[in-house]
Amino acid sequence: MFYPEEVVEEVRSRNDIVDVISSYVKLQKKGGDYFGLCPFHNEKTPSFSVALGKQMYYCFGCGAGGNVITFLMEYENYTFREALEALAMRAGVELPKGEESAEARKQADLKARILEVNKEAGRYFYYQMKGNAGARAYEYLRGRALSDETIRRFGLGYSNMCSDDLYRYLKKKEYPDELLKETGLVKIEERGAKDRFWNRVMFPIMDVNGKIIGFGGRVMGEGEPKYLNSPETRVFDKSRNLYGLNYARTSRKPYMLICEGYMDVISMHQAGFSNAVASLGTAFTPGQANLLRRYTEQVVLAYDSDGAGMKAALRAIPILKEAGLSAKVLSLKPYKDPDEFMKALGREAFEERISQAKNSFLFETDVLYARYDMGDPEQKTAFHNALAERLLQFSERLERENYMEAAARQYHIDYDSLKGLVNAKGGRVGLVARGTPRSYRQEEKKEKPDGIRKSQRLLLTWLIEDKRAYPAVKGILTPEDFTEDLYQKVAAMVYEGLDQGNLTPAGILNHFINDGDEYKEVASLFNTSLSELTKEEREKAFSETVKRIKRHSLEEKTRRVTDIAALQELMKEQANINGLHISLN
Ligand code: UTP
Ligand code: MN
Repeated sequence: MFYPEEVVEEVRSRNDIVDVISSYVKLQKKGGDYFGLCPFHNEKTPSFSVALGKQMYYCFGCGAGGNVITFLMEYENYTFREALEALAMRAGVELPKGEESAEARKQADLKARILEVNKEAGRYFYYQMKGNAGARAYEYLRGRALSDETIRRFGLGYSNMCSDDLYRYLKKKEYPDELLKETGLVKIEERGAKDRFWNRVMFPIMDVNGKIIGFGGRVMGEGEPKYLNSPETRVFDKSRNLYGLNYARTSRKPYMLICEGYMDVISMHQAGFSNAVASLGTAFTPGQANLLRRYTEQVVLAYDSDGAGMKAALRAIPILKEAGLSAKVLSLKPYKDPDEFMKALGREAFEERISQAKNSFLFETDVLYARYDMGDPEQKTAFHNALAERLLQFSERLERENYMEAAARQYHIDYDSLKGLVNAKGGRVGLVARGTPRSYRQEEKKEKPDGIRKSQRLLLTWLIEDKRAYPAVKGILTPEDFTEDLYQKVAAMVYEGLDQGNLTPAGILNHFINDGDEYKEVASLFNTSLSELTKEEREKAFSETVKRIKRHSLEEKTRRVTDIAALQELMKEQANINGLHISLN
């Protein structure tokens, strides 16, 4: 952070969040809180809340959340510094200047400095491409039908032929070697420093807030590797970012398009499909699915039409479903990828393919279908059986019947016969009779990672919203019992605030603002919904939640412990949990 912690907290606390947000969003008072239409996603009924007491905002629709500083960062697209300065001005707080802030800057958070170097490098690559040295790169990009405007918008650039060109440029700006190493842009060896990227067309990779977190570099023409990418760094976690999301998130379309590559996203955006993102060569991850879930409920997969693209789509579908997203799969045939398709047929044809995109279940069963020889009665029967098995995944009767109907039509099977087959199988595993899918019953015993995370979130909300919670929890759970790293950090701060009687949830958030997206997750920790519970349910849920967290924490410890005495101690604690009396009263 560029400014000392006390200064940040002073600026924050002198700007009332309801006042500030009211000047952007029309808010209505409801109980102790304020509600309005969320400025960060498209909605018709208000799910955006501003809590006066907590001095935080949170959207129950898209999960956007934070304090007054992050609000300005998101709404105005300000950097942390810009937001702080605007708020300081608004409240008449004088910020430290000159030497003092230069000194503070030296201690600035490493992540912020890496982002600063990345930005500098991105700018440098861009100007290189625009200059003489980059003429070939510029021609290459124009040759791929990109306009000057597109090139600028995506910040495309060129890394020089000379193998330590960027390094020397950054050294002139007085960045220390230590820092440069951390960015992954240079390798510092005994014989000297070397740039990671040279003689490549450069694609900056931005996070949702438009900060450059890494780069991809493509050879012009043939060569290996085709794309070279930044390594993972403190700011670049490949599994939690999607290329193009910084633009796609504001596209206000009801779905997102997921492609494979840099060029796919760029040419889609150029053609007006500003809701395209890419998972960049890596397999689609749960982290990426959760990220998308903040902005949309529906995705259309536009992966390459080759075998690899199809496999990637098959792997992505269950991950998307798990995150609560509904998925469709688009066919680009006979073209290889969205970029080629767009060049050949243009945007209207692509629109049409979107409208024809296949429901993900039917996409999966099509792949299955292709493996059987329908001319052979034995194989045909095997296909019908496999299909019926798959239909059992739908535990809702009506939904299952809709899918049976669609599948019967698609594969020319008599509906009643298919239904009979499905019911027979379902009866055997207890689905149709009991209305519970088999997979659910099998998973019940093991604590799902998401379940325990949710309990921990719930309790953190409880601790800040209900004064009675802390005394009841204190002797039982310590911050270390919160097993997720981030939650543990937050819990420690909440405990400290409660012990000293000066808990400020919005102030805790200050500590996470420079960490990319982390503050959003922290905001969600303080806004898990308790309101749907009745009074008795609350009492019971509270005690269950505390026990659950304790149990999980002890299980984790048991797994790591090596000596017998400690193990016995843990087992004793485990045995005691059920007898604990935990009550809000
Ligand atoms: P593709 O090989 O399909 O490339 O890889 P592409 O996107 O069609 O690229 P062009 O059109 O030939 O320029 C898809 C994505 O996989 C990653 C990149 O993110 C690429 O955009 N990839 C591919 C790599 O990271 N390294 C590689 O060597 C190849
Ligand atoms: Mn491709």
